[in-house]
Amino acid sequence: MTRIPLVAGNWKMHGTVSHVDGFVDALNASVLPDDVETLVCPPYPYLSQMAQRTAQQRLQVGGQNICDKDGPGAYTGEVSGSMLADCGCSHVIVGHSERRALYGEDDEIVAVKFDAGRDAGLVTVLCVGETLSEREAGQTEDVLRRQLGTVLAECGIASFANAVVAYEPVWAIGTGRTATPDQAQEAHAFIRGQIAAEDATIAQNIRIIYGGSVKPDNAAELFAREDVDGGLVGGASLEAESFLALCRAASSK
Ligand code: PGA
Repeated sequence: MTRIPLVAGNWKMHGTVSHVDGFVDALNASVLPDDVETLVCPPYPYLSQMAQRTAQQRLQVGGQNICDKDGPGAYTGEVSGSMLADCGCSHVIVGHSERRALYGEDDEIVAVKFDAGRDAGLVTVLCVGETLSEREAGQTEDVLRRQLGTVLAECGIASFANAVVAYEPVWAIGTGRTATPDQAQEAHAFIRGQIAAEDATIAQNIRIIYGGSVKPDNAAELFAREDVDGGLVGGASLEAESFLALCRAASSK
């Protein structure tokens, strides 16, 4: 298997100018494992700062969201994919459950944003995942099939050649309650199977990363599973020490 693990930090609405400086200084002074891809997605105002300071490093920088429209244009408060690329971003997260639940983003708008990321030349990190009530009702696979299926139908399988899927069960995000390695593996294998039904090669190559209360002390056993190609990490990605520990946990997979 040739998939390179990806450890991605999602800082959500956390950070300051000085925190970014300290984080990047600490990473610059450390050795990142060379068999792991690393990405941090800070809030918009810090993207350029992080991208410029890490220019000589292997740390990639990404946006947490993207405007569904092409720019430039009269879209107050929005940030386009080409602006993200211009700021030094290589990736963008789309469809995070907080965007879906708190900002009303449905499967259709997520698909449009996925396309917008691809059009801007960014690697799109598509988040999917069920709520606790959906899991308890036995609907996990139905939800994953629907969330993934809409993007596949609207954007086409070829667009997954330059994408990452993040499986993030909503009940595990920020709760301290992590999916077990078996639960994660089962969902990841299902997602890979859905993609394989359209293109076996893309399915074999695409990274499917796990998110939801990943910490340095549980990362290694999650990342060790066959279809878990790294993590999308919130809280534990904010401090350099902890982020580095996650990268080490993904090394030599
Ligand atoms: P968490 O967040 O690691 O703090 O649970 C993960 C995410 O929402 O991407």
